[in-house]
Amino acid sequence: MAFALKTDGTPTYALTFNGKAVIKTSTLGLEFKNDEKSLLNDFTIAKAETATHDSNWEPVWGEVKTIRNHYNELAVTLLQKGTDRTLIIRFRMFDEGLGLRYEFPSQKNLIYFVIKEERTQFAMAGDHTAFWLAGDYDSQEYDYTTSRLSEIRNLMQGSITDNASQTPFSPTGVQTALMMKTEDGLYINIHEAALINYSCMHLNLDDTNMVFQSWLTPDAEGDKGYMQAPGTSPWRTVMVSDDAREILANKMTYNLNEPNKIEDTSWIKPVKYMGVWWEMITGKSSWSYTNDLPSIQIGITDYSTAKPNGTHGATTANVKKYIDFASQHGFDGVLVEGWNIGWEDWFGHHKDYVFDFLTPYPDFDLPGLRDYAKSKGLKLIMHHETSGSTRNYERHLDKAFQFMKDNNYDAVKTGYVGNILPKGYYHYDQWTVNHYQYVVEKAAEYKIMVNAHEAVRPTGIARTYPNMIGNESARGTEFQAFGGSKPNHVTILPFTRQIGGPMDYTPGIFEMDISKANPSNSSHVNSTLANQLALYVTMYSPLQMAADFPENYSRFMDAFQFIKDVALDWDESKYLEAEPGQYITVARKEKGKSTWFLGNVNGETPRISNVSFDFLEQGKTYIATIYADAKEAHYKTNPQAYSIRKVVVTNKSKLQQWSASGYDQYRGSR
Ligand code: NOJ
Ligand code: CA
Repeated sequence: MAFALKTDGTPTYALTFNGKAVIKTSTLGLEFKNDEKSLLNDFTIAKAETATHDSNWEPVWGEVKTIRNHYNELAVTLLQKGTDRTLIIRFRMFDEGLGLRYEFPSQKNLIYFVIKEERTQFAMAGDHTAFWLAGDYDSQEYDYTTSRLSEIRNLMQGSITDNASQTPFSPTGVQTALMMKTEDGLYINIHEAALINYSCMHLNLDDTNMVFQSWLTPDAEGDKGYMQAPGTSPWRTVMVSDDAREILANKMTYNLNEPNKIEDTSWIKPVKYMGVWWEMITGKSSWSYTNDLPSIQIGITDYSTAKPNGTHGATTANVKKYIDFASQHGFDGVLVEGWNIGWEDWFGHHKDYVFDFLTPYPDFDLPGLRDYAKSKGLKLIMHHETSGSTRNYERHLDKAFQFMKDNNYDAVKTGYVGNILPKGYYHYDQWTVNHYQYVVEKAAEYKIMVNAHEAVRPTGIARTYPNMIGNESARGTEFQAFGGSKPNHVTILPFTRQIGGPMDYTPGIFEMDISKANPSNSSHVNSTLANQLALYVTMYSPLQMAADFPENYSRFMDAFQFIKDVALDWDESKYLEAEPGQYITVARKEKGKSTWFLGNVNGETPRISNVSFDFLEQGKTYIATIYADAKEAHYKTNPQAYSIRKVVVTNKSKLQQWSASGYDQYRGSR
């Protein structure tokens, strides 16, 4: 890494890897709103301090037991001529990449300021292949596009029309974490760490020069950051390796976050759960209780007089069915959505007050189910859909969390479907980012674990607040019931969305034909059954759902055994094979045990995975139960063809394992 000032005092940096350019000379700085002089140029170096750090820490949950945090640091203190303002740019150089951030020390000439744009450049050294999502201030729930950087502009045109809430900001704007591969085999990943009290960063590409520049999410007034010194920006991260597996094993994002702030973590536990959920996602059941609209309004209408629609999913009897099955098979929890009043008209109409998070529908016996779940040794998981109304949620938060504690709930799935309210704000702007953080910190006070859907993409904050056990913030399994996702999606997510933390991907679908759940839904889950099992290992998360219906698991009990057995927390993770968009193979050792689980997912091409078991303990004999695609398996035409076999393995064993095609010759899946 090299830092320098241009002749006009503009700070620049550049990054190489084994002599190859990763980031060509790129400028740094921040543009201010109004006529204030921006922090862009006219700097002199007042001080440059170096330091080295090397320590180990143990995450509360994770892919590995111990994480090494080892970097060399350069903190450059810059003084601006004319304004006498001080800006510190701090660089942390890891073996695996670079982190840099802006720091605004306490000073009399810089107290409050408004950011018009952050001007951090990432100048690429070529027309790399990128795995990208179109820039959007509200959603990441899309399939990735794989293309050269120079093709982004054309491919993006016309491709962003399927979501009313989507706000494309530029024909070359993309989201992070952005994964790239260079012509000569370097893997580069750009993201951010510790996104706190700042707006989420996108990247805008100058596709003539192949230079990315930071593009922050604006707020309702178009402003991009209300700052007060002392303060800092989040870290901007550039991971780099000539081995794709090292991007997956990279721990920079966590290392750049603050250590755990929750003293007693005994209540934070990995969770394997089922839920009254896929029924609603497929359209088999409804979240709502009645079709009597518009007479139903919270606080006005008494639901006990409304006519039930007969399709409500969260009924006492149905929830009991899930509790019975989940407890019989050793699960920790059952999520119930649609338990609370308000779902009759729950989003899209700019209604501020949809849910109160306290009042169950008349056919959901909350105390009865609470006690029933307790008697069966598991917990109900709370659901708080906010419809994007952050203020309504904040107003109710203390009561809603206290209600959870009073009723034996210790985990909540939150959701932010629809446009953010107050109007004009976005899912990824500074104020909404602060909202998600407020919820996580407030939940920690109540000893509640949080799994936020539709929230901003994670940036490693779970190190500091490990009660943040899951997030969605990407296209999850639900889209398999909304038309289907690309079969290679799951070979990209660990390189992109999961760089910032675990995803509540909700795998485990055994019946791929959605019309069997709902005859009017012709979607197909683009995955084989064996592929669904592998996701529990390849998509790391301490929170894992078995998303399908009990009756579908009952049809394939031998395969379901894998979901029952798979661990959620690990001492070691070994990435054995990886190529973004194509395949990932990982082996993980269960925390505190000698059991290993190995998962392989594959993209479009049928593939033989070559696994060496040399990570196993020497001299020990293991029995491997192999759940695999059967020879005739195909993700579209024959997804339920799997085989299960047991073989004896030692650390000398090798396995060649075939996995089925994910390529649809009729539709094309790229
Ligand atoms: C979208 C979430 O991703 C999904 O899991 C949830 O069921 C619905 N919103 C309703 O809250
Ligand atoms: Ca979602």
